[in-house]
Amino acid sequence: MLLLTYGLGLIGVFLEHTLAQSVPSFSKNVSDCPGYSLHTLQESNTGLTAQLSLAGPACNAFGTDYQNLTIQVTYETDTRLRVRIADSENNQYTIPESVISRPAAPAISFTNSSDLIFNFEPSPFAFWITRRSGPNSAPLFDTRLSALPETPIPPVITGDESTALDGFSLVFEDQYLQLTSSLPHDTNIYGLGEVIASSGFRRNVAVSGGSIQTLWARDAGDPVDANFYGNHPVYLEHRFNETINEAQSHGVFLFSSSGGDIMLLTPPNAKQSLVQYRMIGGILDFYFFSGPSPVAVIEQHGALVGFPSWIPSWAFGFHQCRWGYASLNETMEQVQAMRAANIPLEVMWNDIDLYHAFRDFTSDPVSYPGEEMRAFIRELAANNQHYIPILDAGVPHATNTSDVYDPYTRGHELDVFVKNPDSTEYIGQEWPGYTVFPDWFANATQQWWTEALKNWSDGGVEFSGIWLDENEASSLCQGSCGTGADLNDTSIPSVLPGTPGNPVPDYPECYNSSISGPSGNITINGTLTCTNSSALVGLSARGLGAGAQTGIDINAPPYAIHNGNGDLSDHTLATNATHAGGIVDLDVHNMWGLMEGKATHLALQDLQPGKRPVIIARSTFPSSGKWAGHWLGDNFSTWQSLYYSIQGILQFQIFNIPFVGADTCGFHGNTDEELCNRWMQLSAFVPFFRNHNQRGAISQEPYRWDSVANASRTAISIRYSLLPYWVTLFANASMRGTPPIRALWYEFPTEPELFAIDQQFLVGADILVTPVLSPNISSVEGIFPGRGQVTWRDFYTHAVVKASNGTATLSAPLGHINVHIRGGAALLMHAKPAYTTTESRAGPFSLLVSLESHSNAFGTAYLDDGLSNPPAESRNVIFSATANELKISSCGNFIVGQKLEALTILGVTNKPSKVSAGGKNLQSSNWGYLPDVQELVISGVSVDLNGAETTIAW
Ligand code: GLC
Repeated sequence: MLLLTYGLGLIGVFLEHTLAQSVPSFSKNVSDCPGYSLHTLQESNTGLTAQLSLAGPACNAFGTDYQNLTIQVTYETDTRLRVRIADSENNQYTIPESVISRPAAPAISFTNSSDLIFNFEPSPFAFWITRRSGPNSAPLFDTRLSALPETPIPPVITGDESTALDGFSLVFEDQYLQLTSSLPHDTNIYGLGEVIASSGFRRNVAVSGGSIQTLWARDAGDPVDANFYGNHPVYLEHRFNETINEAQSHGVFLFSSSGGDIMLLTPPNAKQSLVQYRMIGGILDFYFFSGPSPVAVIEQHGALVGFPSWIPSWAFGFHQCRWGYASLNETMEQVQAMRAANIPLEVMWNDIDLYHAFRDFTSDPVSYPGEEMRAFIRELAANNQHYIPILDAGVPHATNTSDVYDPYTRGHELDVFVKNPDSTEYIGQEWPGYTVFPDWFANATQQWWTEALKNWSDGGVEFSGIWLDENEASSLCQGSCGTGADLNDTSIPSVLPGTPGNPVPDYPECYNSSISGPSGNITINGTLTCTNSSALVGLSARGLGAGAQTGIDINAPPYAIHNGNGDLSDHTLATNATHAGGIVDLDVHNMWGLMEGKATHLALQDLQPGKRPVIIARSTFPSSGKWAGHWLGDNFSTWQSLYYSIQGILQFQIFNIPFVGADTCGFHGNTDEELCNRWMQLSAFVPFFRNHNQRGAISQEPYRWDSVANASRTAISIRYSLLPYWVTLFANASMRGTPPIRALWYEFPTEPELFAIDQQFLVGADILVTPVLSPNISSVEGIFPGRGQVTWRDFYTHAVVKASNGTATLSAPLGHINVHIRGGAALLMHAKPAYTTTESRAGPFSLLVSLESHSNAFGTAYLDDGLSNPPAESRNVIFSATANELKISSCGNFIVGQKLEALTILGVTNKPSKVSAGGKNLQSSNWGYLPDVQELVISGVSVDLNGAETTIAW
């Protein structure tokens, strides 16, 4: 049996070859690469192990071919299969358990029950993955040469020969690894990141271009179709067979921290598409997730890399930040102005303006004095508000005796900084001038980091959470700042935006200053006509760095990945920067942000025991979600950025980093009233909700314009009323990896018209958000999934949407965001959303039930104290409605103090003659019926959510 499932048989063809000779230069041509042959196969009850030997003369395309490889196949669970191909000498870098721990090896055998099956042919070695439940459908992944199109394939990027494909053999060299799989023609691929893809959330695998996901962490302000802050070599693929109406998703994850290019394309005239991995180091350690639903794929990825950390309920409140609050006074003024405008503010932030001389762990003695900071933060706390400051990656290098900067001195003493190859401290450059960088691999770094955070907090900056910036890690020199630099020079290496010589001139598309002046612009209702046609940028050109150079060394890997900055050492740590144990940055570059997030999380656990750490990090890697959330970085005050924020948020759900959001109203450039109005409303339905702005740009706090203030109050009030829903979605993320924000097709996987939709999104399964993403319009077209079989009701009016052919044009005047609730949903809400989440939580609950046509609805609510880590006590409440009755039951040990005092039941077709709660008829003054919207409204009840089952009947 095993024989058959392993494919073409076990008669290994053992080809013996001499070791590849060391070669002076590389052919840069993979067409001659011989591939490998499999032999010495050993089966176990969890999978197999075998040897692979080079099947011909070494090609040495972009490095030296390994003669011998070891392949290990492990059926880790019924839904997860691992295929690990490594050099038998174990020279190549592999991610240690100490950085990302993964589940222990399976204790029982899943070989015969796994839904994924590993098949192979021995020579040339190739493998393919099929589903047990669909043996006749196309393999999910297939590296057989016969499955792939004929080469050569012309360059994907015109003029960039490196994007031509001229051979599909398995290549495993010290500096270049290549593996190619065929995919069904124009299949649906999501994920691979971090990226802002011009194709949208669904990646472009089409003939006209395809896509390249370059894996190299880079400090770049939200470029389109190019690598930037984070790296996630995982994709979610969705296949739909219209003939049998079958939809199945699966996932493919390459567990590697190496730089690389992942190419997705459909060669001209080919009947299939393909994915090609081109890695410049590490090993080929693949995990396949069987789904078969998209949500299950994301959960399976989470089960491997770690589920997202618990988010305290206050972090779902509204956050205000900006770069350019010059003093504590100015910061306090924002808090006061928000209160005066009655716009809820939960968390106040400070950017690097806080610092003394731009130095981490400081506050400026004049503009942000420590004791005044302490008083300010304590006053915030007294008002149930919180404070989060920034931390940059580069720690100032301060050796001058007159310039005491303890974080450096102490770090130097504990030997925690990244080194040069000669063991001297590596010097980079950031805002404070010359800097060093924490080496997360060094023994004492955690201790030093925790101490530095503690001292900062003890000195007055009593933070509730931490914002980790510049952690790609960013540095302004081209590689090391080198010898000869005057390390006493602490001048800022660049002109800050908003100062003479660096003004911020840009405004959103269609902004017309002659109409409304610099403080804002409302184009709505036709005063201005414009087309929102910001050009989409194509694939980034090939980097100019490594591949253009000769020789082999870690500074210039022979295969030039498509790094947007060209040289891999540009604007970051040099690839030869050295970590403890001799690890070179080339191998671990992509994990700096992850490791900083983890160290910060562990530090906060120490400093704030039992509390859920709130950390927002710019650079992320698989498993970052276990420690931190993410913001989408330096976006633009443009309508295009507003639209792109949706795909960013969806993408990070796949990566199991669900607590994510964009700089609301836009970071770079000046916003305008209309854009900020729409954006504040959209972000109210996004997990991490923060308004943040560049220094020098016009102010954009929501109180700055009346219309934005109104729009914000409305949207934040809905958000706070829905807090129990957010908390439930995030509990499910932390317990199971379930993504809180979903693309429409996740819930309706057999509706191909949804596969490319990224202008709308779902919060959980039940809330559909249809934002306005263009200026000067007052209606928006929305698609309503379910093909007429699902009832969607307007969140505000409760009217049923009348969609023809699945779409409807919705009224969307400025200040109104369309939100719809799915038939069949039951949502526990706060009845009295208040100024803060704490006050909202203190009030009673209400319940919104939207019956599906057959009178059914179902929902659950997870409740706990919103703070403890991990939650010590929790309660799960279940709402289940069938024919004219709703049952409420719960289990768990958390005692819910607030009662359920109001219910709204939508879809009650006739006026009830009586309504009862817990068997007792309610007085007619305690309920009402609105026939137009078939709505039953019940008040005057006080349902104990801890008690025995309660039935509400009508
Ligand atoms: C980076 C951050 C941005 C921050 C700025 C100043 O550009 O991404 O959010 O405001 O640095 O610290």
